[in-house]
Amino acid sequence: ALPATAEIYEVGPRDGLQNEKVVLPVETKLAMIESLVDAGIRRIEITSFVNPRWIPALADHMEVATRLRRREGVRYSALVPNMRGLDSATRAGMDEIAIFMAASESHNRKNINKSTHKALETYAEVVREARDRGMAVRGYVSCVYGCPYEGHVPYENVEYVSKALVDLGVYELSLGDTIGVGTPRQVAETLRGLLRAGLRYEELAVHFHDTRGTALANITVALQLGIRTIDSSLGGLGGCPYAPGASGNVATEDVVYMLDGMGVDSGVALDRLPSISVEIGAKLGHELPSKYLKAHVGA
Ligand code: HMG
Ligand code: MG
Repeated sequence: ALPATAEIYEVGPRDGLQNEKVVLPVETKLAMIESLVDAGIRRIEITSFVNPRWIPALADHMEVATRLRRREGVRYSALVPNMRGLDSATRAGMDEIAIFMAASESHNRKNINKSTHKALETYAEVVREARDRGMAVRGYVSCVYGCPYEGHVPYENVEYVSKALVDLGVYELSLGDTIGVGTPRQVAETLRGLLRAGLRYEELAVHFHDTRGTALANITVALQLGIRTIDSSLGGLGGCPYAPGASGNVATEDVVYMLDGMGVDSGVALDRLPSISVEIGAKLGHELPSKYLKAHVGA
């Protein structure tokens, strides 16, 4: 059975842009976010308060977050890796943040320059302080289905990091297939394992990169297990510079097309997405990979 509704968590302005060579002007980013909200997106990640030397494409985080016009009923979030990032997010007026780490030791060292143990220690302080400041905190576990440096990631590592983040107080956990290697059976086994381990399906979200074309199949399995929050990125933009081989996130238009067809209401107007993708693609200097977009533009 499928749920009647699902929620899209749009990561285009963050995950989508973090790996692009062309850095979009702040105005373009703001227009992109506003257009996505106009299309019905109600949860959106707008930037990352990380070291700009690590992610130059989002070096304008402060300007994006302070200039963005907030709208009633829309939840805006941003990645935060440490206390310095939390302080920036606070100054920028964010009321929601997301912390992120991998289920694999090597990816943590490459992506956030910390061991798994040290990352959890850092995030314990970040979450405590963020919640004291009245912020909601989402958590990401990346490399859930495989790691670019270690290959196979044992399920036990995924469960360990997932439970640890929930214990710190994140209200939702997004399970990332950072390099797009997962297949439906593995996804079902992982999700069932986490549900058995005591995580609630309302606090789980899925985050697929469509590197090998398995993202929609994986999302269907997650929906069948009762997961109702799906991360996706406009046009299929995205990838992590510290995950070699990672390609775009699953495209928002591909997910919404599938949900519409299956009678799962996301509140997002599919017909408003292609023009936004075409415009952003033109500004970035390449076509975006969404399959729905290609079919639509070609039609
Ligand atoms: P570090 O070098 O270990 O940090 O980086 P440090 O604490 O030693 O500080 C070094 C310098 O960085 C100092 O500056 C700090 O002030 C500065 P200096 O004194 O040398 O001039 N610094 C900062 N500047 C701005 N904002 C900050 C900040 N923190 C320190 N918050 C750090 C550690 C975590 C900062 C770094 O590794 C980093 O920025 N990493 C971010 C990497 C990233 O954003 N990756 C992509 C997102 S994750 C992802 O894509 C996966 C996901 O999408 C899910 C999935 O797909 O599975 C979420
Ligand atoms: Mg990602």
